[in-house]
Amino acid sequence: MNPFLLVSRSAEYESRLRALLGGRLTVITGEFLTFGVDAVMERVEGTPRIALLGPVLNFEETRGLLKELTERHPDIGLVVVREQRSDLEDWVDELSLHAVLSPLATDETTIELIRRLSAWLVVNGRADEQDFAMPIEEETGEASDDLLAALVSGAAAQTISDVDVDEDLVLELERDLDSLTQTEPEQEWEFPPLESGVRSEAIAVVAPKGGQGKTTIAINLATGLAEIAPNSVVLVDADLQFGDITAALGLTPERTIVEAAGAAAADELVLKTALTHHADGFFVVASAPSPEAGDAIAAAALAVLIGRLRTTFRYVIVDTTPGLGEHTLALLENVTDAIFVTNMSVPSLRAMRTEFELLRRLALTPANRHIILNQTDRQSGLTTRDVENIIGAPVDVEVPRSSAVLLASNRGVPLIHDDVRDPASKAIRSLVMRIAPDAQPKRARIHRRRRSNESE
Ligand SMILES: Nc1ncnc2c1ncn2[C@@H]1O[C@H](COP(=O)(O)OP(=O)(O)OP(=O)(O)O)[C@@H](O)[C@H]1O
Ligand SMILES: [Mg+2]
Repeated sequence: MNPFLLVSRSAEYESRLRALLGGRLTVITGEFLTFGVDAVMERVEGTPRIALLGPVLNFEETRGLLKELTERHPDIGLVVVREQRSDLEDWVDELSLHAVLSPLATDETTIELIRRLSAWLVVNGRADEQDFAMPIEEETGEASDDLLAALVSGAAAQTISDVDVDEDLVLELERDLDSLTQTEPEQEWEFPPLESGVRSEAIAVVAPKGGQGKTTIAINLATGLAEIAPNSVVLVDADLQFGDITAALGLTPERTIVEAAGAAAADELVLKTALTHHADGFFVVASAPSPEAGDAIAAAALAVLIGRLRTTFRYVIVDTTPGLGEHTLALLENVTDAIFVTNMSVPSLRAMRTEFELLRRLALTPANRHIILNQTDRQSGLTTRDVENIIGAPVDVEVPRSSAVLLASNRGVPLIHDDVRDPASKAIRSLVMRIAPDAQPKRARIHRRRRSNESE
């Protein structure tokens, strides 16, 4: 019977773990969670010794699985696979688990964690050495023999002095993991190849004035499209002066748009290193590290960057600087869609009308235009009809004002994954469906419910 169980929504992570653990790993894809925790539990065979949950499982799903697994297999070792995010501490506080592992941790770190936990289970009589041994006629796939040997012998050789055996071990392992997961990832990500005949779409999110919600829309659109085309979505922070996408997503980029738009990025491999991966299945080109560095990027170089990204990604989403500066104009010339975002204030609406008129004169209106009325509010004194009269065009999607937007951004989690029932979240999902009307999500949606201590 397989000692290791993985429940995950990430196909990439599944194949990575299979390569590490070979035939001793059972994988249950997170899609079964759409039918509830029981649907997953029905597929758990025998007595798994260590369960890895994630990546891309939400809090409620993880809690449900942890509860069921512990009830049925009280001796099981439980690992949550999740990136270090602002809310991770809550997870650790509220869930009884043995360790947290970053999905971006190196193979060595991952194996080391599993080895230590296996050893601890053996030392504590919760598992038998034999449980972790290789099955006799098992096909190990691409598993590294060295790593597997280290894992097995590590479990066997571990002595009581290596691991502090008492009820505080949970904390001990967490501390270990903290230090292990701090190491910077060296993950090489595979981009799914664009299917032949599939046209890449580039979508600019623009607004004549600042603070209308461009970044919020861009982040959540990328997140929603990544459910349809996992790892084939890139979100470019082309707000060259004050871009804040990586901060809003809790990412720490090693490289930025300065390298991505630099001459060296003509080489696909160099361009790849300028991307930062997000656990929800998309890539980010981070904003320039300073306004000066951003200003130094030529508008033409930005246009070239979008073209290059379109050869690799199904969807290229571009967040922009407010207004119609030369960079944004160059972008509008090179995209298939533009999303115009405005709130309900009359000056913003008038500015939007002026922007449309200017773009029409310059013959720069992209092929597909989507108008988002953001932060709608019944108290604004304006109806949608009034708004349409002012801007001279129909509104396509209305996104209500919602406190969940700020909560999600403070948590560093995309709204549509942070609070699926929120009306703003639902409205943004309708925008995703507008952009990709025929698409079927390849990943089940991620539903994270509000916690009891949060207000509705
Ligand atoms: N529907 C909404 N309900 C409530 N708050 C919202 C909504 N949309 C955006 N916000 C808030 O408005 C502020 C501005 O949003 P955001 O950063 O997305 O706008 P922006 O157009 O990118 O701004 P900037 O021009 O500064 O880049 C943020 O604090 C965000 O949380
Ligand atoms: Mg912004």
